[in-house]
Amino acid sequence: MKILMVSAEAVPFAKTGGLADAVSALAGSLSKLGHDVKIVMPRYYKIDRKKLQKLEGPLGVPVGTGQEWTAVYTTTLPGFEKVNVYFLDHENCFGRDGVYGTKSEPDFFDNPYRFSLLCHGALQVCNKLGWFPDIVHAHDWSAALAPVLVKHVCRTQEAFKKTASVFTIHNMGYQGVYGKDKFNDLGIDWNLYYGAGFERNGAINFLQAGISSADMVTTVSPTYAREIQTPEGGFGLDGLLRVRSDVVKGIVNGVDTEIWNPEKDPALPANFSSKDMSGKAECKRALQQYFGLPEREDVPVIAMIGRLVSQKGIAEVIAPNYGCLWGICKSVDVQVVLLGSGDRWAEDEINSLQKKLPNFRAKIGYNEKLSHLIEAGADFFLMPSQYEPCGLNQLYSELYGTLPIVRRTGGLADTVQNYNEQTGEGTGFMFDNLTPQAVYDTVGWAVYAYYNKKDHIRQMQKRAMEQDFTWTNSCRQYEEVYKEALLRGCGIKL
Ligand code: ADP
Ligand code: GLC
Repeated sequence: MKILMVSAEAVPFAKTGGLADAVSALAGSLSKLGHDVKIVMPRYYKIDRKKLQKLEGPLGVPVGTGQEWTAVYTTTLPGFEKVNVYFLDHENCFGRDGVYGTKSEPDFFDNPYRFSLLCHGALQVCNKLGWFPDIVHAHDWSAALAPVLVKHVCRTQEAFKKTASVFTIHNMGYQGVYGKDKFNDLGIDWNLYYGAGFERNGAINFLQAGISSADMVTTVSPTYAREIQTPEGGFGLDGLLRVRSDVVKGIVNGVDTEIWNPEKDPALPANFSSKDMSGKAECKRALQQYFGLPEREDVPVIAMIGRLVSQKGIAEVIAPNYGCLWGICKSVDVQVVLLGSGDRWAEDEINSLQKKLPNFRAKIGYNEKLSHLIEAGADFFLMPSQYEPCGLNQLYSELYGTLPIVRRTGGLADTVQNYNEQTGEGTGFMFDNLTPQAVYDTVGWAVYAYYNKKDHIRQMQKRAMEQDFTWTNSCRQYEEVYKEALLRGCGIKL
């Protein structure tokens, strides 16, 4: 099949979270299975034009109430030579730092315009190349206009008659909500304000339009697919998702094992495998050294990496007079390390905590290489998410023999098996209710096993590391979704 991915992020070019990992790895893996896959994304300021090839001629893109002209650059996806990535180059819209915003302006005021340019532009790239996809696969609210265009605009054109759309929700918490006055930015007819499902509470909701218009809707784990159809998980769109439940599927993300593989990860001081763990001990030493912690082999190191936002359960861990980190560090012999950036209050609190707790060390910021060392060197990985569509860090942790301590939600519930202290089965430690006490107790449970059930921990590490988290299985499920989209959207039976 010919598949066009439309996304605001894709590694290694631009990343704010797991979306970027997922899009590139999915595109690459589909191409390895023989599909013809292309990605269209913005050329942000940080993406060096000198490393890209320029396509000849400008690209005219209808957007707003007029037309914009962009340049198109291209290169191949590293590691997957058959996947071409196309970058829309437009100084005014994308020639700045930040994907969705910056620290001082977290959501750029012109995002409806910028991401409408992306979606219209993606389809114009097809026209320019004379390459018309079977599937337009759009990711998250920022690409949600693409399925709207496929259904309501393109299908009247001969070239796109056989194109269906798939919309993947990576996070219900970000919906792209803007005042109705911005609708002119979208470059589509006003009747689509209601007709394509944009209108919600008198405002524009991009995610809702994507869900309403796509031929198939997926999200990134089966449990999350169920959760978003409930009032607790639906962020207001659960009703719509229940109405469309026959087209909603959950497919768990895989791991790009070219990048995340302890046996050959170049970011590590020593490599290791489930059969020979000696390198992991060396990574632990290097990690302790990096953070200036005592280099002790006998103490459990608990790690956290991620966006410091309420979704990740950060308040339950660090909030003043509430979080459990203080109690853990004071009453248990552990070391805790954290890498992350996000909400200002959380960053400040973390900095203040590490001044008071000698066994807690944190780095505020984004650091890809350090994240590999942490995954490799830690014993446990704490991820007490409020909700988690899929989650990638627990998968990386498992493959690196770092047992996850997680809340039983979304993709965490689908990818971690809880420890059974009778048999030693499991790949991690789980709790249900997100309270500081539950996090404290479960960390305590893991630490107890670390000190007293060494054989169980060893078995769990081996089991966790030997799991198959490759994308192949997920790609097979996407193939089925693509077929169903073609049938539903275009009446084509493959
Ligand atoms: P989300 O997409 O909700 O942020 P995921 O677990 O799916 O959560 O993906 C997060 C991705 O971003 C992982 O690849 C993780 O390693 C990476 N990441 C998050 N914060 C940081 C950071 N501060 N430094 C390095 N990598 C980070
Ligand atoms: C989102 C989710 C995360 C998921 C990622 C990739 O950012 O928060 O759980 O793993 O997308 O699908």
